[in-house]
Amino acid sequence: CGIVGYVGYRAAAPVLLDGLQRLEYRGYDSAGVALVENQRLEVHRTAGRVVQLRRLMPTDPPATVGIAHTRWATHGAPTDANAHPHTDNSGRIAVVHNGVLDNATDLRARLVRAGVRLMSETDSEVLAHLVALSSADTLESAVREALRQVQGTFGLLVLDAQRPGEIVAARRGSPVVLGIGDREMIVASDTAALVRYTQRVVYLDDDEIAVVRADEFRTGTLDDRRTTKMPTVIEAPEEDYELGEHSDFMHKEMHEQVEAVDRCTRGRLDDAAATARLDGLRLEPRDCRKIQRVTFVGCGSAYYAGQIGANLVEELARIPADAEPASEFRYRNPIVDPDTLYVAVSQSGETHDTLAAVRELQRKGATVVGAVNNASSSIARACGAGVFLHAGPEVSVAATKSFTTMVVAFALMGLKLGRVRDLPAARAERLIGALRQLPGQIETVLKQEDHITAIVRRYRDARHLFYVGRVRGWPVAREGAQKLKEISYLHAEAYQAGELKHGPLALITPQMPTVAVIPDDDLLPRNISTVEEIKARGGPVIAVTSADLPAGLCDEVIRVPSGEPQLDPLLSSVALQVFAWAWAKELGREVDRPRNLAKSVTVE
Ligand code: G6P
Repeated sequence: CGIVGYVGYRAAAPVLLDGLQRLEYRGYDSAGVALVENQRLEVHRTAGRVVQLRRLMPTDPPATVGIAHTRWATHGAPTDANAHPHTDNSGRIAVVHNGVLDNATDLRARLVRAGVRLMSETDSEVLAHLVALSSADTLESAVREALRQVQGTFGLLVLDAQRPGEIVAARRGSPVVLGIGDREMIVASDTAALVRYTQRVVYLDDDEIAVVRADEFRTGTLDDRRTTKMPTVIEAPEEDYELGEHSDFMHKEMHEQVEAVDRCTRGRLDDAAATARLDGLRLEPRDCRKIQRVTFVGCGSAYYAGQIGANLVEELARIPADAEPASEFRYRNPIVDPDTLYVAVSQSGETHDTLAAVRELQRKGATVVGAVNNASSSIARACGAGVFLHAGPEVSVAATKSFTTMVVAFALMGLKLGRVRDLPAARAERLIGALRQLPGQIETVLKQEDHITAIVRRYRDARHLFYVGRVRGWPVAREGAQKLKEISYLHAEAYQAGELKHGPLALITPQMPTVAVIPDDDLLPRNISTVEEIKARGGPVIAVTSADLPAGLCDEVIRVPSGEPQLDPLLSSVALQVFAWAWAKELGREVDRPRNLAKSVTVE
């Protein structure tokens, strides 16, 4: 979910609505705003998008203070009543909350016994009542008292109609950032909501609380010790959040991959030593030599990028490597080995499961580095060391440029680890050359948009697709299938090419197209056999390949440039992004905001 608050001299509503729109990637099930006018709360909420909220707001409300929220439903369906802000029974306190309160059921029962009328099914509502019930003489103390009673996570903003000059913010596990303006302050869950107004920011730490007024802010810990925070200046050009000539952000961000990949390698390729410079990892050659295993943890596309990363590290550095979804890893009671390098992979740096995995690892004494796009995020800060992805802000829910920069970062990591072990200089030089060619090659793939759209049109009636690949191609197939599911709502299933004949082949029919990922590598003959098995059962095959396939073997071919086979997964993935995008467009889907999903899942 996304939260934003404003206190200053201008009308709050436009700032809040604009901020919400930029935070919609965190959820768009419902939206709401609370403003203070004449010491009274004005609350507007609705199930649905920020545009709907805009429509039901009065024109030009004069309030200069307010808080707002866009929701990704966890407790309670996305209805008007469950939309934030939540208020207490007297309508004095308003609260917007990200995170999950674990003891909400107990607290709700207790509040009902105390005579409170609950108005929603959410966990968050209890916070408004707890603050209102406090007899403390400042809002800050009342919030502190309320938070002492809750278990769980929160990024929280609280407004008191009778003290309209301030917003109280608090954080545990869910990000809160203060934007420091000139006679105005914006508080949000993400800098995207405030870069238009100020670039000077202060990040709250866990268990910190802030009192924010138009011309000052004060921070302290939840157990009432003062903290001193110096503002930092962020770089986030405004145009990152504008569409320009593109129809949607996914399209824009697919095209930004050319630049993003270039940025991710800039200054990191060391030709003289034929290696990669990744100083942020803080690993000296002797540390690198000690590493016995590399394990990547992440969620969704970050996990699949980690799987490609594991292949790269194993191949280039000959260190055993694997990847696991952070959501599984954290609960599996993993055996933590001091000689394993753990890599936490995350675009946002705020994914709850990934952050929890990092904390669990650190508790057990592991070395964890981050591969994160948001350098000031919770995961980046928790890890301390890592590789910054340099993808730039990614708005569309479907990961594109963050995914490709993750893969590039792992190729660099493989180089670095390989070169202090037994990766020959000549091979490393070839890989460095291939990395330099990537931006141009990505451009070549993107130019095939019309060709790919034409293929999609020919299979428009399909409802189910297989994606197959082996070894290098396998994570590519998984990520490709995931993209199609996410944004087109078609059913797509990824399978290891060699496993197809052990079961799923039974599903092959002329109505079930298979996308076959076929890198130009040693396994080409094996992949050709798989295609033949599918063709023999009447299944159409769409190949994504850098190889010269026998004429007529596949029904459709999407060519990707050939280069170093290790980097083939990256180029094939870009082709499959375009494929999923074209399919979603063809079906008229809202590609940037697929139903039920959020870009950044900051809850369990
Ligand atoms: C969400 C998004 C996915 C993303 C995953 C991990 O589920 O919908 O597209 O891959 O989170 O996000 P992260 O920010 O940690 O990379």
